[in-house]
Amino acid sequence: MKTALLCVLTVWFSSQCGESTSSCLHPPAEWCSSLDTAIQCGVLKQCLMSNFTRSHPTEAPIQVALYYESLCPGCRLFLTEMLFPTWLLLNEIMTVNLVPYGNAREKPDGQKYVFECQHGEQECLGNMIETCLLNMTKMAFPIIFCMESSTDVIKSAQSCAQLYSPQLSWDKVWACVKGDQGNQLMHQNALTTEALNPPHNYVPWITVNGVHTEDLQDKAMASLFTLVCNMYKGPKPAACGGPAKTPYRSYSNKQ
Ligand SMILES: *[C@@H]1O[C@H](CO)[C@@H](O)[C@H](O)[C@H]1NC(C)=O
Ligand SMILES: *[C@@H]1O[C@H](CO)[C@@H](O)[C@H](O)[C@H]1NC(C)=O
Repeated sequence: MKTALLCVLTVWFSSQCGESTSSCLHPPAEWCSSLDTAIQCGVLKQCLMSNFTRSHPTEAPIQVALYYESLCPGCRLFLTEMLFPTWLLLNEIMTVNLVPYGNAREKPDGQKYVFECQHGEQECLGNMIETCLLNMTKMAFPIIFCMESSTDVIKSAQSCAQLYSPQLSWDKVWACVKGDQGNQLMHQNALTTEALNPPHNYVPWITVNGVHTEDLQDKAMASLFTLVCNMYKGPKPAACGGPAKTPYRSYSNKQ
């Protein structure tokens, strides 16, 4: 299972992962039936993509929201090593809401707002690109994952967008980033973040079904996968079954 999860991460950058296709002993109809067969048959990416649109969960999905900043190291680690892999496996029973803003500040300036970010102007730019992507494409999360796992969050943005959303016009994204639309969308992020109750005092800040407690935060940081599987009230999806999974290394969440 550990291999499978690492594979989920690397598979976004290549069409094959781990095992070669020669270890695929299954007929095509079964290729997407489990994570292991998808990996053995070299079609994990395709299976995951085709599953993006599924979902008729019997109970309300668990709503996970992440309040973060594009250049905060702890945020990047949580997003890339915990939130995204968990969502790939459990997107049938969970939704993810990303709010890039965190400890930023805003000041009104005429009709617009001026933003100041904890890690400087580059972070404000990263937040803005991600905010525009979230508004403009359903593939925003894979693109943001790609950006946040690159060495340069900003420089990678265009190629990450082209990789996962080739039909998306980068000129339009850039017009949003530099224009009134981005400004207004970021203002909404500011309002949403400032409305948190209790107010956030660090990032990454997590809410589950709209609620933040230290206990939920700690559990999400330790294994979001286990938390979501445990909290979901409907029949557990196959991914939740089997032996206990704590595939993620732990790391400090507070800065
Ligand atoms: C894709 O969806 C099908 C049908 O819901 C499910 O049986 C299968 O396990 C999913 N595959 C992966 C790799 O998540
Ligand atoms: C995108 O932003 C506009 C406002 O600029 C809003 O009306 C629209 O609902 C947003 N779309 C999505 C998918 O969030």
